[in-house]
Amino acid sequence: MAPDILLSELILRSVRETAAFGAALAPALQAGDVILLEGDVGAGKTHLARAIIRARLAAAGKEEEDIPSPTFTLVQTYDAGSCEIWHADLYRVGDPAECYELGLPDAFDTAVCLVEWPEALAEARPENALVLHLEMLPEAGSRRLRARGPEARWAGPVARARRLAGPDTASPGK
Ligand SMILES: Nc1ncnc2c1ncn2[C@@H]1O[C@H](COP(=O)(O)OP(=O)(O)OP(=O)(O)O)[C@@H](O)[C@H]1O
Ligand SMILES: [Mg+2]
Repeated sequence: MAPDILLSELILRSVRETAAFGAALAPALQAGDVILLEGDVGAGKTHLARAIIRARLAAAGKEEEDIPSPTFTLVQTYDAGSCEIWHADLYRVGDPAECYELGLPDAFDTAVCLVEWPEALAEARPENALVLHLEMLPEAGSRRLRARGPEARWAGPVARARRLAGPDTASPGK
């Protein structure tokens, strides 16, 4: 497996900046793309996923719908016109076999998939995924975002999202 490359590291100083990053990344996503959302409880994985989903639904001309956290349902799916979006939360999944029962590996090929707590995927973890790791910082409302993944697919979309998302000052050069 190719080593994960650190594509970008930035500080998101508010919920608004996190949402802006998600909305700016959303247009680049196409069927077959997988985003793995890592980070502790409350780090902002669902907040970021919601922003991506909301942006894609809006682009598809869909009325804004409720976007619940998949904490209990494990998977929520959305019809975003050109593609389906799967939003999964695998926190409660103990056995990787459950990921197959949920249909995730198939969806990785056919939909845009956003997966919180992807550790449960084990062998089913796709190699070409974009990994977004969120970390809580001591300053209230701030998160560090680290983006890793194959450069050929993800360097462009991540750089563009970063540029559009606003006045970030962290880690010059990255
Ligand atoms: N910069 C920020 N980005 C994202 N969320 C933030 C930020 N600052 C504060 N928050 C708050 O942190 C919380 C993040 O909750 P969220 O449900 O997105 O976390 P999560 O990582 O999905 O947690 P879980 O592991 O329980 O699924 C929200 O209450 C949100 O308002
Ligand atoms: Mg969550």
